[in-house]
Amino acid sequence: MRILVIGGGGREHAIVAKLAESPSATHIIAAPGNGGTAQVAENVSAVEGGEAIAAFARDNAIDLVVVGPEAPLVAGVTDTVRAAGIPAFGPGSEGARIEGSKEFAKAFMRRHGIPAGDSRSFSSAEPALAYLEQVGAPIVVKADGLAAGKGVTVAMDLQVAREAVRECFAGRFGEAGSTVLIEEYLPGPECTLLAFTDGHTVVPMVPSQDHKRAFEGDEGPNTGGMGVYSPVPIVTDAEHETMVDIVRAAVEGMAEEGIEYRGVLYGGFVLTDRGPKVLEFNARFGDPETQVVLPLLDADLAEILLAVAEGRLADVELAWRDDWAMCVVLASGGYPGDYETGKPITGIEQAEELPDTIVYHAGTAFDADGRLVTAGGRVLNVTALGPDFSSARDRAYEAVARISFDGMFYRSDIGARAMRGRSAWGV
Ligand code: GLY
Repeated sequence: MRILVIGGGGREHAIVAKLAESPSATHIIAAPGNGGTAQVAENVSAVEGGEAIAAFARDNAIDLVVVGPEAPLVAGVTDTVRAAGIPAFGPGSEGARIEGSKEFAKAFMRRHGIPAGDSRSFSSAEPALAYLEQVGAPIVVKADGLAAGKGVTVAMDLQVAREAVRECFAGRFGEAGSTVLIEEYLPGPECTLLAFTDGHTVVPMVPSQDHKRAFEGDEGPNTGGMGVYSPVPIVTDAEHETMVDIVRAAVEGMAEEGIEYRGVLYGGFVLTDRGPKVLEFNARFGDPETQVVLPLLDADLAEILLAVAEGRLADVELAWRDDWAMCVVLASGGYPGDYETGKPITGIEQAEELPDTIVYHAGTAFDADGRLVTAGGRVLNVTALGPDFSSARDRAYEAVARISFDGMFYRSDIGARAMRGRSAWGV
């Protein structure tokens, strides 16, 4: 099978690395890929837009197109690729609206009885600000559209919430912020449940828990994710069952609405004292969740993705390693705000000498002298596996200690709350 993977972050490196283990994947092309995918696949320049991707796939005898990031999914790339007769992994534009419009997602959840926080949407600042005064803080402010993970503000006081509303309507996120949702704050630990689905069969993956805040102790601004582990020791069996039921209900809801959803459905949950509630649905693999979930997959990823794309997921067997995985994100100083790039990176080989340790590249590039340098906010994702939670964690941090670049920063408390148990969330 010749496979084209669209995207170039840590998630895409994890997808490409797992595909490279597959006996059925004979050639993998990453567009644009990154320094990590270059080690196991052929990198080509970014191919953008459905027509260009379909033409590239035809010209290169591609058997399966896998779309990693949300923007091309929302833009309908897989619709165009499928219309050209090429199997594609990832929902079409209709299905991807579940991520592309938070207003659509909320209305969808209401229509299908899916539990989520109460929310109201606004198309101008004045009524939104008046509503804030009425409901008070803590409160969540969300830009409706795609904002590269930066459109959500969890405001513990009203001043922060007011600023978030004003920024959205002042155009910080362009068209994505022209509608704003003000949403009930739900206290509790968060949990991600990714599921493969071909629109009929739903196969949940192992749960994971991201750390979205930039700084230790879950302080600071939201980021794309600073670290993650899988599975999640504090989730009860009953909560797990509810999350699986909710993801199934969402896929059934799509089918009822005539949407054939083929790809990964990402359920982002809060484990409240009234049971799991949906914080968000995404239309793709999580980043960095994929960097702990796929290393635990004990099955042929290429076959699974093709089966999803061809609507025959029911034919495929999946199994998971009986291990734990921990990933620590190494970021550029200043992220998620401004940061410098072009800093030489050392120590990756030494880190990967540790057993069951893999360093996924996110924002890396090669400079004119062929040195690996930083090229983004989140630079590397250091994943380690172990037979229990603490050994995976210790190994991940041992690997982190072997890597360095100027300005490197990371959270040293990934997994620390889970080690203390559920009470560490104070709810
Ligand atoms: N880790 C959060 C996301 O993928 O949206």
